[in-house]
Amino acid sequence: PLRPVLPADIQSRKGGTPLVVLTAYTTPMARIVDRHCDVALVGDSLGMVLHGLPSTIGVTMEMMILHGRAVVRGLTKAMAVIDMPFGSYEESPQQAFRNAARLIAETGAPAVKLEGGLHMAETIAFLTSRGVPVMAHIGLTPQAVNTLGGYKVVGRDAEADKVMADAVAVQEAGAFSVVLEKVPEGLASRITQRLTIPTIGIGAGVRCDGQVLVVDDMLGMFTDFRPKFVKRFANFGETADEAVAAYAAEVRDRAFPGPEHAFADVLPAKGAQG
Ligand code: KIV
Ligand code: NA
Repeated sequence: PLRPVLPADIQSRKGGTPLVVLTAYTTPMARIVDRHCDVALVGDSLGMVLHGLPSTIGVTMEMMILHGRAVVRGLTKAMAVIDMPFGSYEESPQQAFRNAARLIAETGAPAVKLEGGLHMAETIAFLTSRGVPVMAHIGLTPQAVNTLGGYKVVGRDAEADKVMADAVAVQEAGAFSVVLEKVPEGLASRITQRLTIPTIGIGAGVRCDGQVLVVDDMLGMFTDFRPKFVKRFANFGETADEAVAAYAAEVRDRAFPGPEHAFADVLPAKGAQG
């Protein structure tokens, strides 16, 4: 029988067919993701791609819950994971649990994701030991943009050992999988070999246990910037621009609406057409 994918299923897919993860923020997109992917990630990237924020820093619990609920409604098999927004978990394991519990209870998603390695290990252990499955996220952690000083590759040269230590730490803390963002491909491969939990790469090369992209990026809907790791599988932004332009022109020309979109004042007689 069909039952939703759970964190333990994801963990057991280590080393197998690559895990397919894609972000989703709405019910219709969740339905599409549900047909083709293993995990629908309600990423805090929604702050940028849906709400026009300059970074993920301003994303709130309320935004994550609203979009999380919409996504969970669209899923029948894929698993939802909800990002913990900036400021909702860094202060203490207790703060993290309180907010993770809200995300899970109020959306119905079975798991959360949070950013950080070694320094978040205690919090990850606190959550996982209390019934909150955690997907970790290391390498480039966009919520730390202000301390990282931009969205650069993380883990070249001497920094590689630190990223490896982060990976081992989140696994030992009980994370069921870990996102590796913008990590050099050789390092991502070594981390993937070393860990027993699946690595989900974004800008981390092909040898991770799975891949994730931001759906609006891969559809060509969000085009403010385009990281090297994004492949555009469609051009929704262009298609939408053309459609809106056509609509505007037809309205101005009174070409739309046509008679087929309008309602007659009198019902047609029985047996008559139209
Ligand atoms: O917010 C997000 O979409 C993410 C993925 C890119 C991993 O964290
Ligand atoms: Na995120």
